[in-house]
Amino acid sequence: MSKVHAVITGIGGYVPQYVMTNEEISTLVDTSDEWITKRIGIKERRVLKPEEGIGITYLAGKAIENLRSRKNFDPLEIEAVIFATSTPDYILPNAASLIAYRTGMANAFGFDMGAACSGFVFALEVGQALITSGKYKKVMVFAGDTLSVLTDYQDRNTCPIFSDGCGVALLEATTDEEIGIIDAVLHSDGNSLAHLHMLGGGSVNPASHESVDKKMHFIWQDGKIVFKRAVTEMAKSCEELLKKNQLTKTDVQWIIPHQANMRIIEAVASRLDVPIEKVMVNIAKYGNSSAGTIPLCLWDLEPKLRKGDNVILTAFGAGFTWGALYLKWGYDY
Ligand code: COA
Repeated sequence: MSKVHAVITGIGGYVPQYVMTNEEISTLVDTSDEWITKRIGIKERRVLKPEEGIGITYLAGKAIENLRSRKNFDPLEIEAVIFATSTPDYILPNAASLIAYRTGMANAFGFDMGAACSGFVFALEVGQALITSGKYKKVMVFAGDTLSVLTDYQDRNTCPIFSDGCGVALLEATTDEEIGIIDAVLHSDGNSLAHLHMLGGGSVNPASHESVDKKMHFIWQDGKIVFKRAVTEMAKSCEELLKKNQLTKTDVQWIIPHQANMRIIEAVASRLDVPIEKVMVNIAKYGNSSAGTIPLCLWDLEPKLRKGDNVILTAFGAGFTWGALYLKWGYDY
């Protein structure tokens, strides 16, 4: 008998309506459309306007509405909700419980996962493990962020990059060996705190007048170090995964990388010796919504995917966290 494993049976997504262009960023910091386009590859990004009571679970609610318009499922059959985010609505309760309650997933237990930009890949690995255990059959995986709330719009090293958006994937049990999540290689390196962080608001530096004055509630990064590690680790983890699964680059139909910088994406493709046409990219219009970028790529470019396609997802983020996941796409659009 074939083994039970997990397959993505539907994808939903949502980005805020407000489009922040490079021209608008250029009114906030000393930069230009030309510099951002050339050095980062972003033309515009979506940003949630700060309105009372609206945060990541608002985007998640819209994303699941979108999923329901494409895929029939009974919310009461969902047994677990995983929400990969660094920007939950509140420190507590978690975003997973809120969204499960609001969307009728009343029988699910829910928890948030903090793995920054690697969140979707990490959450898929955990979701598939729940299903492969045989104990659960349907798991809802949300991944998204509202990085605009952590962005210093006076810092030109970060503000052109970050954006808001949320995706959602329905994971279900299957015994069909032609589809589903096959394998993943995931890594973390906590020795990188100095290079990419937001130091305020946690247990070491709880919110205070001082933490606000010191801008500790914004993301800070050493762009060059992050850039190099992102290229090296995403490429290495893809190579490790391909080798482990006896795949060559020609066996792979799609690489879907985290969308942080077009030059990072091109460098990873070049190291893997994969033509850029095989790489899914939508960074120009949506920017870097952290955990949201990969599911938003799947959602945005879903019509390109065919049942059984070999797909490699790869991500890199704060922690550092990184890795790659191999799946066979589950359905035709
Ligand atoms: N507009 C214009 N000039 C800018 C700028 C901006 N938005 N940001 C930086 N610069 C300047 C720098 O001040 C520097 O000027 P100097 O030579 O006078 O000192 C010059 O451009 C080159 O800086 P550098 O840091 O080498 O730029 P870069 O090409 O590495 O691009 C990043 C900077 C941040 C875009 C790039 O390093 C990057 O994308 N890093 C990865 C970040 C990331 O992915 N973070 C999310 C993690 S998942």
